[in-house]
Amino acid sequence: MSDITSKRRPNLLGVHSLDHFSIAVPDLSQAADFYDAFGLVTKAEGSSLALQTHGSDHSWGKLVEGPKKQLHHLSFAAYADDLPRFKERLEQRGIKLLSPPVGLESDGLWFHGHDGVLTEICVADKSSPDVASVFGPGDTESPARGTYSRSKAPRVYPRRMSHVAIFTPDVGGAIAFYSDVLGLRLSDRSADIVAFLHGVHGSDHHMIALVKSGNSGFHHCSWDIGSAHEVGLGASHMAGRGHDRGWGLGRHVLGSNYFHYVRDPWGSYSEYSAGMDYVPSSVDWQGTDQPVEDAMFLWGPNPPEDFAHNYETP
Ligand SMILES: [Fe+2]
Repeated sequence: MSDITSKRRPNLLGVHSLDHFSIAVPDLSQAADFYDAFGLVTKAEGSSLALQTHGSDHSWGKLVEGPKKQLHHLSFAAYADDLPRFKERLEQRGIKLLSPPVGLESDGLWFHGHDGVLTEICVADKSSPDVASVFGPGDTESPARGTYSRSKAPRVYPRRMSHVAIFTPDVGGAIAFYSDVLGLRLSDRSADIVAFLHGVHGSDHHMIALVKSGNSGFHHCSWDIGSAHEVGLGASHMAGRGHDRGWGLGRHVLGSNYFHYVRDPWGSYSEYSAGMDYVPSSVDWQGTDQPVEDAMFLWGPNPPEDFAHNYETP
């Protein structure tokens, strides 16, 4: 963890944030129930459902209705004066610019990215953090007792989104694409099985994670909370609401965060994450390549067998 405040890195072209992700799901009201229970604010916006965190009007997720769960697009945010440079870069790479999807008002740059994933680079405020998140032991009810009765367990409300993990058949190619086109940097990887990338203007250890699969898809969205205690509280609340499948409580090696993944109604996950490593803009992170069996988690239960199974079909 670091108390260094990130400032824009001069002379480096890179997106500063993952502004939002968008997935199609078969039932928006079921999605609203799930993410409300998870501790997010869900808001109907036209024909889509926005995912926000309490106290902020930023939409981290935009869900649209479709026949099946499917990654719809990823929208990255950049500084205003970098947008023409990104346009030039896309043109240099021969990447064709597209109109925004029907129904979406946007003056960002739209294109088919790696694996054909619909991708946007837009101008927006930096939503990735400028400092490492506050991480502590979690709240306690009274100074005399460490905790409170189960019936008084508080709800957990994520403070912001941390990252999104997507599937790709070609992790190495995806690292190259997101580094070259979007200016992200590799944080750590496990061979060609999984990789984590951060933003050069300061972000969590990963703004985006890449998971090997036969085709592209959405694996999970991850939400920052303040303690391992809250990770447990959130997981317990979700189990009580019928969402008892998932993986956790555990601690990752790459990123160092405490986690609990709650399986959503479509076979992907929403992760409670606490204490993730932070990469300030002043630091050139020294990445590692660690065998997956040594790096997936430091402790915790074994993941479900289908944890990395991609339920999205092309
Ligand atoms: Fe994650």
